[in-house]
Amino acid sequence: MLSTESVQALVLLAAKARENAHAPYSGYRVGAAVVAEDERVFAGCNVENASCGLSLCAERAAIAAAVACGEKRLIAAVVVTDAEPPGTPCGACRQWLAEFGGDDMEIIAANLRGQTRRFTLKQLLPEAFQLDPERPRSR
Ligand code: THU
Repeated sequence: MLSTESVQALVLLAAKARENAHAPYSGYRVGAAVVAEDERVFAGCNVENASCGLSLCAERAAIAAAVACGEKRLIAAVVVTDAEPPGTPCGACRQWLAEFGGDDMEIIAANLRGQTRRFTLKQLLPEAFQLDPERPRSR
């Protein structure tokens, strides 16, 4: 479990990334931070597009930044919005988190008023879809 101090620092980092959100269509700004097993932290924000279906969520932006730096084992994710109660990751992001985090991955939803909600990934996405990359598949 992350300490209260670690959560506070991660919330600040995600809130900082949120300031860079590109959300002119929804007005819903999101910042995220993911923590790798070796404690490196990567931030992301949502990036919307005039073709709205192409919008990228903050969580997936942060995960992509981690993977680009060689991190594929994530232990925690923090998402910051201005929502009350704090907004949890969308379904697609939960599936992305499940690709790189275990059932016990910590997911923390926070808002700008200091409210936090803490979950495990299993709570947010029980029975996540998974494929064994070692297993040969028919074409
Ligand atoms: N969004 C995120 O960044 N993360 C989520 O988990 C939920 C939704 C973004 C996508 C879009 O830019 C805006 O929030 C409104 O849906």
